[in-house]
Amino acid sequence: MVNATSEAPRPELARRLCTSPELIEGGRGLRFEIQRDGLAQAAFVVRHHGKARAYVNRCAHVGVELDWNPGEFFDCSKLYLVCATHGALYAPASGRCVGGPCRGQALEALPVVERDGQVFLLEAGAA
Ligand code: FES
Repeated sequence: MVNATSEAPRPELARRLCTSPELIEGGRGLRFEIQRDGLAQAAFVVRHHGKARAYVNRCAHVGVELDWNPGEFFDCSKLYLVCATHGALYAPASGRCVGGPCRGQALEALPVVERDGQVFLLEAGAA
């Protein structure tokens, strides 16, 4: 379990993704991969309302990657994550689709924490 101190999570339970300043509010996201059943799966992390939010990069509608250019996930208002294929809008804080063909469905969230100016993806069992 990750404690509430400012210490970095144990390395065996977390993977460093980037430094905190690299994630700019409403700006470009960081693309990364996770491994599932031996297969690489695209994922990303963005900053919204000051918090790092990470999701599997797969639209709830058809299952394609969301970004309209590599790392570009926000719509022009910077309020929503947008799928480049058919325009589904997702709430960045929850991943829930709030507009478009998959309304009511959601992106798959991934657990991230920030400690000591670093953003970490928590591995299974660390949250
Ligand atoms: S594939 Fe994302 S909205 Fe259709």
